[in-house]
Amino acid sequence: MFYPIVLVMVFGFVMNPAFSAESTITVWKSASCGCCQKWVDYLQDEGFEVTAHNVDDVVSIKRKLGMTDPALYSCHTAKVGGYLIEGHVPASDIRRLLDDRPTLVGLTAPGMPQMSPGMLSIEPKGYDVLQFNAKLETSVFSSY
Ligand code: CU
Ligand code: CU
Repeated sequence: MFYPIVLVMVFGFVMNPAFSAESTITVWKSASCGCCQKWVDYLQDEGFEVTAHNVDDVVSIKRKLGMTDPALYSCHTAKVGGYLIEGHVPASDIRRLLDDRPTLVGLTAPGMPQMSPGMLSIEPKGYDVLQFNAKLETSVFSSY
C-alpha cells in the first residue's frame, strides 16, 4: 500500500530529531580541503541537513564565531542549533549536544584526529572531543 508507507515516511521524518530544523548545520571550509568535504558527506549520511560554504580564510570565520584559541582549531568550523562545532566531531556527539542542550559554547576535536569521521574512520578512535565555554575553557565531552 502506497499511502501508509508515505505516512510512515512523513512521521519518521517529523519524529526523527536528526531531521528537525535545529539540526541544519552550517559548515565553513576551504574548497581544497578533502577531509572537510568528507565530513560534510558523513553528516549528510547521518541525516543532517548541511549548508557548506567554501571560504578563503576559515580562521577569520572561526574568530568571528568566538573560536580564538589556535590550540582548539581544526580544519573546518560549523554552527548547529546555536552551538559551534570545530573539526571532526562525530554525529553522535552533535546529536547528544542538541538533545541535552548543555550550557556551553560548542565542541571541538582539535587538530586532525586520524581515526575520525571524515578522516580515516567513520568510527571515532583514539581522540577526545572537548566541550568549551565562552572563555574557551575545555573539558572532555567524549573520549574515544
Ligand atoms: Cu579535516
Ligand atoms: Cu575539515
